[in-house]
Formats: sequence, structure tokens, C-alpha cells
Amino acid sequence: MSQVFPSVIITGTGSYLPKNVVTNDDLAKIVDTSDEWIRSRSGIHERRFAEKDEATSHMATAAAEKAITAAGIDREEIDLLIVATMTPDMPFPSTACLVQSQLGLGNITAFDLQAACSGFIYALNTGSNMLRSGAYKKVLIIGADKMSSILDFEDRSTCVLFGDGASAAVLEISEETNCGILGGTAGSDGSNPNLLYQPAGGSAQPASLKSVESREHFIRMNGKEIFKQAVRVMGQVSTDILNCYDYETEHIDLLIPHQANMRIIESLAKRMRLPMEKLHNNLDRYGNTSGASVGLALDEAFRNGRIKSGELVLLVAFGAGLTWGATLIKWH
Ligand code: ACO
Repeated sequence: MSQVFPSVIITGTGSYLPKNVVTNDDLAKIVDTSDEWIRSRSGIHERRFAEKDEATSHMATAAAEKAITAAGIDREEIDLLIVATMTPDMPFPSTACLVQSQLGLGNITAFDLQAACSGFIYALNTGSNMLRSGAYKKVLIIGADKMSSILDFEDRSTCVLFGDGASAAVLEISEETNCGILGGTAGSDGSNPNLLYQPAGGSAQPASLKSVESREHFIRMNGKEIFKQAVRVMGQVSTDILNCYDYETEHIDLLIPHQANMRIIESLAKRMRLPMEKLHNNLDRYGNTSGASVGLALDEAFRNGRIKSGELVLLVAFGAGLTWGATLIKWH
């Protein structure tokens, strides 16, 4: 498929990880688990947890500062800010508004986007389409989550899997043709929201003494079902977007999947017949950082020289909702 829209390129990426490293052994001191169980079932060795006074907006702002520096632009040039998060500082105002103020941006368009672990890809696709529409000139997207704020440290089946962090990217239109973000796709299926959710704290079940006592402000997950769906859906959406742009799996130079679980990632690679060397993973060090995950891995891969000009990079994610998405990039 030839490209008919202006090219959108990622001109800068950045990420932020809290300093506090929490190892599997640290978690084994507070919940009935072990380093061996967590490593073998998830591939995670350690994760970062933010400080008590460090909210999602603070991590998002720190990641954004790095992306803006990498892009080499003046922050005043940014005219659209999208923050993908499922752990906003507060229900309202949006975390995007808080980040807008912390970064000292002008009175630009700023909004939150909620697509759980698919958030970075949803933001990337939305931001690039808004650039292509001509309505905006420079877009800052951020994926940030303080997962430790919604983890139940009495539920060993979930609290060992997640970590905190933020990632960001600056998107701009390029004069070059046939490069940059070739296209993106995203989908959702809300027919079974209880597979992965936070029961209380919204309008369906506002905070109450009962909701706090019954620990309903924390994540609940059907891990086995999520596992199956994640492999199937990420495989399908990857194939779909490659087909759409006349590429085959063998053309992929680098696949960056959502960093949920190493067994999910290995099953995805097997399903796609892609050797593991063609994937970039950092799950072992950061766990599942939800909305930040894909952007964190992208920033790390780029800074480590794993992405070169002309290479085909596929980003793919899956999350609560259920939501999923993929973005195909020919790096400029
Ligand atoms: N430590 C020790 N034992 C544990 C732990 C733990 N942390 N957690 C569960 N167990 C026990 C269970 O209680 C169970 O014990 P039992 O047999 O005595 O009942 C046993 O381990 C096996 O539990 P399973 O649930 O069968 O373990 P499974 O092999 O399915 O692995 C896991 C569980 C890791 C959660 C897996 O299902 C998974 O990875 N699912 C996907 C989760 C995920 O990635 N979610 C997020 C993706 S979407 C998003 O990012 C928003």
C-alpha cells in the first residue's frame, strides 16, 4: 500500500523510572512468593516503585523532558499533549492538564487517554492521525502508570507482575516520504471487563468504607484467560498490520511487544515465527509498566542503537478493556 498521507516521524523519545528497585526477594518478604516462582512464570527479576509523593504526572513530566530534549525542539512548539494512563493522579482534572502545567507548556490541547497497557500505542496512533489531519504541528505523547498505587500486596498473583514508569515521544510531520509511522491499528472488546479491572473508585462503585475494606480499589485479574487472549490478539493484530502494508514477518527488523510476561512474549514470537533476537525486551528489569511499557522499550532500544534508519519496527500491545493495538514504523 503506498502512503498517501504526510509522513509522521518520532523525533525524540524519553523515559523515566523511579530510583527505588524492588527485587523479587523484596516482595517475598511481604507476600507468599519466591524469586524462582516469579522468574519462571513471568520473566521478571525486579521492578521500580515510585515514592509515595511521586505521582503519575511527575514521572510523565520527567519522561517528557527527555523526549523534548532528544527532539531538539522548544517546548513552546508543542501544540497537542496526550497522556495515556490508567493510574491518573486523580479522577479529574486530567493528568495531561497537570503535566501541561509542570512542563510549562502553553494553553494547548491536553487530554488523557485510557487504554490500559495498550495506551502508548493508542496515543501514538491518535497523535499521528491528528498531525496528519493538519490540526496540529508538534505532538507530545506520554504513557505513564504508577501501578504500585493500585496493587494489592495481599494478592500474590498480581502484585509481583507490575512496576511504575513513564515514557514519551515527540511526533512531527516530515518532508521525507515513505518513512516514519506507516500506520497503526487498534481494537477493543468490552464484553468481559472483569478479566482485568479495578472494581471500585468509579461511578459504578464509588469509594466507601465497604469498598476499601473489601480491597476493591486494587487490580483484579484472571491471569490464565488474559494470557491466552494476549498471545492470540497480539499475533493477529501484528499479522493484520503487516499484511495491510504488504510486509511479511521476515521483513521485521525489531518487534517491541508490551512487556507483560516473558512467556506471553515467547509464545507470541513462536506464533509469528520470529526469532527472539528480533525482539527488544526489558521486562526482567521493570516488570509490566502498563501504559509506559512499549514506550520504555522503544526508548531503550533506540538509545542502545538497536534501531537504525530504514529499519522496520513493529510495536504491539494488549491490555485491560480488552484493548489492543499495533504501530508499524519505518525508522527515518
Ligand atoms: N508466587 C507463588 N505462587 C503463586 C503466585 C506467586 N506470586 N501467584 C500464584 N501462585 C500460585 C497459585 O496460587 C497457584 O497455586 P495452586 O496451584 O496451589 O492453586 C499456582 O501458583 C499456579 O497458579 P496459576 O495461576 O495456574 O499460574 P500460571 O502458571 O497461570 O501463572 C500468571 C500465573 C503468571 C499470572 C499467568 O497466568 C500470566 O502471566 N497471566 C497473564 C498476566 C498478565 O500478563 N497480565 C497483564 C497483561 S494485560 C496488561 O498488561 C494490562
